[in-house]
Amino acid sequence: MYNDPTGREGVPHTQRQFEGLAKQVGRIVSGRGERDDKLRRTCELLAGAVAHYDWVGFYLLDAAAAALELGPFVGEPTEHVRIELGRGVCGMAAQQRKTLLINDVAREPNYLCCSQRVLSEIVVPIFDPAGRFVGELDIDSHTPAAFGDGDREFLEGICRELSALFG
Ligand code: SME
Repeated sequence: MYNDPTGREGVPHTQRQFEGLAKQVGRIVSGRGERDDKLRRTCELLAGAVAHYDWVGFYLLDAAAAALELGPFVGEPTEHVRIELGRGVCGMAAQQRKTLLINDVAREPNYLCCSQRVLSEIVVPIFDPAGRFVGELDIDSHTPAAFGDGDREFLEGICRELSALFG
């Protein structure tokens, strides 16, 4: 697997932009609406604000089936609406319960392709308030090696905020 978690720079961003977006996600989470509506608005916010986030979506755990189901997303439709644990980058992140950052999807043998335009990907797990894995945030980019440690920290913070929706 081509997964280099150390010292990644990714596409430059401003810390201030990420801090502002994290606050906005906090407001979405604590505001009105059903969970799926809040997840959809989070996708729209991230995809609209960050230029290298080309596909933003959630996969939610179907524990009984040991599979992930596609939840709210923004971007091109994908054929991967259901992914068994262990399959694809999404299934691996679910199994390993950790963030996976793929700099070059062409070098990842377990990658499931949604669009030829996608060159790099990050998948961040979401845990409920009791610490159980419940799903993940998946972001694809048309930019090579788009995601760095700044994205990882930002998105892991977002997923900690979203945890409250699964309580
Ligand atoms: N690339 C993912 C599949 C989901 S699509 O990116 C939307 C994977 O390898 O699991």
